[in-house]
Amino acid sequence: MSRYHEVYNAWKADPEAFWGEAARDIDWINLWDRVFDPYAGEYGRWFAGAECNTAYNCLDRHVLRGRGAQKALIYDSPVTQTVKTYTYAELTHEVATFGAVLQDLGVKKGERVIIYMPMVPEAVIAMLACARIGAIHSVVFGGFAASELATRIDDSKPTAIVSASCGIEGARVVPYKPLLDKAIELATHKVGISVVLQRPQVEAAMTPGRDHDWAGAVKDAKSRGRKAGCVPVAATDPLYILYTSGTTGAPKGVVRDNGGHMVALKWTMKNHYGIEPGEVFWAASDVGWVVGHSYIVYAPLLHGATTVLYEGKPVGTPDAGAFWRVIAEHRIAAMFTAPTAFRAIKKEDPEGKLIKDYDLRAFRTLFLAGERADPETIKWAEQKLAVPVIDHWWQTETGWPIAGNPVGLGQLPVKYGSPSVPMPGYDLACLDEKGEPVPRGQPGTLAIKLPLPPSSLPTLWGNNERFRKSYLADFKGYYTTSDAGFIDEDGYVFVMARTDDVINVAGHRLSTGQMEEVVARHKDVGECAVVGVHDELKGQLPAGFIVLNAGVNRDEKEIEAEVIKLVRDEIGPVAAFKQVMTVKRLPKTRSGKILRGTMRAIADSEAWKMPATIDDPGVLDEIAEALKARGMAQDNKGPTG
Ligand code: COA
Ligand code: AMP
Repeated sequence: MSRYHEVYNAWKADPEAFWGEAARDIDWINLWDRVFDPYAGEYGRWFAGAECNTAYNCLDRHVLRGRGAQKALIYDSPVTQTVKTYTYAELTHEVATFGAVLQDLGVKKGERVIIYMPMVPEAVIAMLACARIGAIHSVVFGGFAASELATRIDDSKPTAIVSASCGIEGARVVPYKPLLDKAIELATHKVGISVVLQRPQVEAAMTPGRDHDWAGAVKDAKSRGRKAGCVPVAATDPLYILYTSGTTGAPKGVVRDNGGHMVALKWTMKNHYGIEPGEVFWAASDVGWVVGHSYIVYAPLLHGATTVLYEGKPVGTPDAGAFWRVIAEHRIAAMFTAPTAFRAIKKEDPEGKLIKDYDLRAFRTLFLAGERADPETIKWAEQKLAVPVIDHWWQTETGWPIAGNPVGLGQLPVKYGSPSVPMPGYDLACLDEKGEPVPRGQPGTLAIKLPLPPSSLPTLWGNNERFRKSYLADFKGYYTTSDAGFIDEDGYVFVMARTDDVINVAGHRLSTGQMEEVVARHKDVGECAVVGVHDELKGQLPAGFIVLNAGVNRDEKEIEAEVIKLVRDEIGPVAAFKQVMTVKRLPKTRSGKILRGTMRAIADSEAWKMPATIDDPGVLDEIAEALKARGMAQDNKGPTG
């Protein structure tokens, strides 16, 4: 029997009592005035008045309570043939030392530090060091280009940047330092301090006066016995800013606070993921994404578990047995990844033959998130691994699952295609355009009744108005998730699509509007549209349609290649933007709105209706022809109804 309903109802009856009780698992410097202050912030604030330190709760307190010799972090890097572990005592020492390095370079409480690093332990150390000294980190994913990094520099205005000489992407070494230098040059906000980790694969050229060598600075601090103490911060102070794609324009700086974040994440480890302190938990994500923040770094360490930092891919490092090797070698109790990683494994090893080479007896549960988990992938994983496979749904904005199947409270029946039920903290509704709840089973926009639970964003960095406009303005009294779906008669939620221009490529959230802005900058492009089309492996892939300016008579293929390069250079390889086709016209409504939804439906060979407001239906035939020439829309049967 699952205790889910009992626990959810207890939360609903008295949210303050529920979170007040959960907060007892955290060490506070000063307690709060009220668990929830409805008058503070944009929709109220959790644990206002309290003081705490997140790094202390992740590290020091475990050492003080006897976990000093337990593994805190296992770095497993098939791309460098390295496995390195840090005990809680060792990680605390490294974090306190690097905290002192940052302080000695002049970084103060409340100032921002950008971390642009690959999946190396120093990335985790830098994040926790910021938390320790009360600085606000902003991790930027390595697959983003220099101009994306520059945008984040200009928005967060960091005092310092921590980076590395290179990342390793499968067999490819990606130099990071030239991207960092270019970003600093592009940004209006000038950063005077950077710390660079030199990796043996590529030696970065250092800029005198600005760049500091990580190893040298740490060695020096250690020789002087320098260690940073844990600086008290308000529970409502920001711990980090994480930028995420939003509707067109600049990325949104999601703010995470210290107190509520700790309380919610700690609660999830036992109750949602079913993990006990001392067990090994592995999130195969990247520290540049929210999953990496929450479930590689903060939650497992808050819980006194052992976390794994994996610098590799599900396939090719060296084969499709990589995940099973890591699970077996480190006796992992539960892992968390995106369905796309399992689709990649399934493609290479459909029979799951490599699984048999490993002892997976310690492995209990597989968690999937980041994109909709397709039933086929879930069933394959269930069958091959013989463990429960749990889909759960969340967003950068929330930092922990909105809906899931709480294994720790007793697993509920799985419904394929559904990430199950709302977690305590989330009063989930499915609304129509007027903001009225739709009947069970009917489609609508998924929205969360305010207030949002602890850990969810209190606002966007430096932009309360954009926060209100993006999330609170659509439905009075609700936060919109911008995900569309439905809730069935048993209260299970089904998350089907985005209501905005965000697409999900290999579990990475990207804005097609942002890609359109870049494509439109090409001198020969008059008009463009980017839509997300279905892809067997990555879930979705962006496809670009361009209309050339009148009078341009260069080779179309050449222009298309330039457009692809432009997006890779401006947004980064992570955009996976590799498909562009030149068309004569774009389909539009009579008022000039581009019919992207219809283009996507044609590309995916889905049933589609002729939009009543279309200006010229003939344009859709031209789009279908262009797609067919690229091997897409093969089954397009034209409009229905
Ligand atoms: N630094 C530099 N480049 C990076 C990068 C990084 N940290 N991460 C990805 N890239 C590059 C890749 O090398 C690839 O470049 P290419 O176009 O030259 O091949 C491009 O960005 C696209 O990356 P990705 O979409 O991740 O594709 P992939 O082919 O490298 O790997 C998967 C495909 C499915 C194996 C991989 O996406 C994966 O493991 N995904 C898991 C998803 C995940 O972690 N989601 C986070 C939320 S849980
Ligand atoms: P991100 O903020 O990068 O974590 O992306 C969040 C978005 O990914 C959500 O708004 C959804 O569109 C999608 N998403 C994440 N997890 C799931 C899931 N389990 N099922 C369906 N969609 C998901």
